[in-house]
Amino acid sequence: MPQQVVRLIIAFAIFVGIFFIARMFLVPATFGEFGHYRGNSLREIAALPVKYVDKKTCTGCHMHNANLLASDDHKNINCQICHGPGYKHNSYFEQNRDKFMVRDSLPDTWKVDSTRLTASIAVPDEFHMTRSQEREFCLKCHLLNAARKEKTVKQIDINDHYDINKRCVKCHPPHAPNS
Ligand code: HEC
Ligand code: HEC
Ligand code: HEC
Ligand code: HEC
Repeated sequence: MPQQVVRLIIAFAIFVGIFFIARMFLVPATFGEFGHYRGNSLREIAALPVKYVDKKTCTGCHMHNANLLASDDHKNINCQICHGPGYKHNSYFEQNRDKFMVRDSLPDTWKVDSTRLTASIAVPDEFHMTRSQEREFCLKCHLLNAARKEKTVKQIDINDHYDINKRCVKCHPPHAPNS
C-alpha cells in the first residue's frame, strides 16, 4: 500500500474518533428516547402554562354568540383569534358560575345572567377577554393588501369605504358581519 494512503487512513481514523468523542458530549441525554429529537422537549412543552381552550368550551356559556357566528361569514374564525386566549377567563367563570350565570335551554349550556351582572361583583381585569371595537382590529385582516388573496379575505380601501370616521362594528356586527 502506498505510504500516503496509510497516512490518510490514520488521519481519517483520528477524525472519526474525534467525532464520536465530541458526539458523546454534545448529544443531549434524552435524545432518541421517543424519536429523532430530545425526549425532554416533550416534558418541557407539556409543563408550559395552558392559555387556550377549545372553542366548544366558549359555546357552553356563549351559545347565542356561537350560533350567530356560525351563521355568517366569520364562521371559520376561532373566538380566541378575536378575543384572546380564553383559559383564565374560562377557569374564573367556571368557578364563579353561580354568581354570573343561569342555565340555558339546552343541556350543559349556560348563559350570562344579565340581571345579576351588577357593578357590585367586580371581575378582575385579567379574567376579561379583549373585545376591540377599533377599526385597526378589523383592518388587520381586511386592509387592502396586494400580497393577500382577495378570494380568501375580502379587502377594502379604507379611504374609500363608506364613512371613514365610523367604527366598522357600527355597520358590520362582528359575529355576523354580512347580516
Ligand atoms: C371576527 C372577530 C370575532 C370573532 C371570530 C368572535 N367575536 Fe365575539 N366579539 C367581537 C367584537 C369586535 C365584539 C365587541 C362588539 C361590540 O362591543 O360592539 C365581540 C363581543 C363578544 C361578546 C360580548 C358582547 C356580546 O355581543 O354578547 C361575547 C360574549 C363574545 N363576543 C363571544 C364570542 C364567542 C363565544 C365567539 C366564538 C364562538 C366569538 N365571540 C367570536 C369579535 C369577534
Ligand atoms: C364558564 C362560563 C364561561 C365560559 C366557558 C366562557 N365565558 Fe366568556 N363570559 C362569561 C361571563 C359570565 C361573562 C360576563 C362577564 C362580565 O360581563 O363581567 C363573559 C364575558 C365574555 C366576553 C365579554 C368581555 C368580558 O370578558 O367581559 C367575551 C368577549 C367572552 N366572554 C368571550 C369568551 C370566549 C371567547 C370564550 C372561550 C374561550 C369564553 N368567553 C368562555 C362566562 C364564560
Ligand atoms: C382573523 C381575520 C379577520 C378579522 C380580525 C376580521 N375578519 Fe372579517 N372576514 C374574515 C374572513 C376570513 C371572512 C370570510 C371571507 C370573506 O368573505 O372575506 C370575513 C368576512 C367579512 C365580511 C363579509 C365580506 C363579504 O363577503 O361580503 C365583512 C363585512 C367583515 N368580514 C367585516 C369584519 C369586521 C367589521 C371586522 C372587525 C370587527 C372583521 N371583519 C374582522 C377575516 C377577518
Ligand atoms: C357606514 C357603514 C360602514 C362602515 C363604517 C364600514 N362598512 Fe364595510 N361595508 C358596508 C356596506 C353597506 C357593505 C356592502 C356593500 C359593498 O360590498 O360595498 C360593506 C362591505 C364590506 C366588505 C365586503 C367588501 C366586498 O368586496 O364584498 C368588507 C370586507 C367590509 N365592508 C369591511 C369593513 C371594515 C373592515 C370596516 C372598518 C374599517 C368597514 N367595513 C366599515 C358598510 C360599512
